[in-house]
Amino acid sequence: MNVLVVGGNGREHALVWKIVQSHLVDKVYCVPGNAGIAELAECRSMPWEDDFGELADFAESVKIGLTVVGPEAPLANGIVDTLHERGLRVFGPTRKAAILEASKDFAKNLMVENGVPTAAHRTFENPEEAIAYIQQVQSPVFVKADGLAAGKGAIPGRTVDEAIQAVKTIMVDREFDDAGDQVIIEEELTGEEASFFVFTDGTYCLPLASSQDHKMSLDGDKGKNTGGMGAYSPAPVLTPEIQDYVMDRIVYPTIDGMRSLGRVFKGVLYVGLMITDDGPSVVEFNCRFGDPEAQVLFPRMETDLVPVLEACIDGNLIDVELAWKPGSAVCVVMSSGGYPDAYEKGKAITGLSDAGALEDVDVFHAATKTQNGQIVTDGGRILGVTALANDLKSAVNRAYQGIDEIHFDKAHFRTDIGHRAIT
Ligand code: AMP
Ligand code: GLY
Repeated sequence: MNVLVVGGNGREHALVWKIVQSHLVDKVYCVPGNAGIAELAECRSMPWEDDFGELADFAESVKIGLTVVGPEAPLANGIVDTLHERGLRVFGPTRKAAILEASKDFAKNLMVENGVPTAAHRTFENPEEAIAYIQQVQSPVFVKADGLAAGKGAIPGRTVDEAIQAVKTIMVDREFDDAGDQVIIEEELTGEEASFFVFTDGTYCLPLASSQDHKMSLDGDKGKNTGGMGAYSPAPVLTPEIQDYVMDRIVYPTIDGMRSLGRVFKGVLYVGLMITDDGPSVVEFNCRFGDPEAQVLFPRMETDLVPVLEACIDGNLIDVELAWKPGSAVCVVMSSGGYPDAYEKGKAITGLSDAGALEDVDVFHAATKTQNGQIVTDGGRILGVTALANDLKSAVNRAYQGIDEIHFDKAHFRTDIGHRAIT
């Protein structure tokens, strides 16, 4: 079978890396891919985020038997629906189901209606009312754009002024365009964050191994919120008891609630959790694999991924079991200096093969391209260096050995990935 992976970040490199190992797969294509993915798959450049006609033509022409969609934007824009109309098989939720990530107001209401624990919230359609509410509550909040904002739409409002400024950024300056038509103001949760993923065929849900990412740009969880600066799996904070609770009180009520609304959710559900003193609470839902979490989960997964993805499509996930490598995986992200704010592109990257040659180290490319025969930086998060080892501490050391081999001008990475689970 030929497989098409859509996307071109570290998550998609890890997906392609895993899929090429399947004995069911003849050839993997990727749109648009990146320089690292191009070593494993044939990469093609064409529209893929909000216009899917050419992509569907391409999938038909090279006889794609399975399409796997990485990022949220094409899912929210209906890539699965378009490919279905062409009779193609695709892993991921339809547009109607991807609303779970694409509208935070929808997700919040679904949680409230189904008794899923989450921060108390209010939704506003005009800035004056939102500001009046902030002045009334006088406690730390998070201010969020309702729609997709490339991971930047949640702004902390620890003081009244900060929260008001966040409302203005979203609703008056319209930094996230239409995504800011509505604003959600929610109570701040405190605790430790963790990422919980389940495969689902719309009815049955199968949990993946636990993981945790590091969202802030600087050591000690300082700096700015990013897409994720590193990850590790397993995450000890997600004890078996907490995982059972999350399945019973969060995952099934959500998937059942979606089905009863006629929004059957098939694919992977990403539950962003805060483990508070009162138990787990949902920070957000995503309709896709996490990045960089995927870069630690796939290297740990023993099971062939392709039959699992097919079982989600075919509705027989109940027959599937997942096996995981023991030990730990750690991914340290290298970014362009300045990320998540402005950064430069086009810096030559050296040492990639030396890092990749280290035992149990894989270098996943997130934003790279080949220019005049040289791999160069092409975005904010550039690479994820993932290492596997018998324990977390050894995996951390090995990942940083990989990092030591790789160089580009103004490279930035955190030096404390995994610290929470080690201490
Ligand atoms: P979101 O875009 O909703 O995933 O939020 C991005 C990040 O902001 C989360 O990963 C958390 O670190 C933080 N965050 C969002 N909502 C809350 C909340 N209610 N309390 C505390 N932290 C939050
Ligand atoms: N690591 C966070 C995300 O994928 O959204």
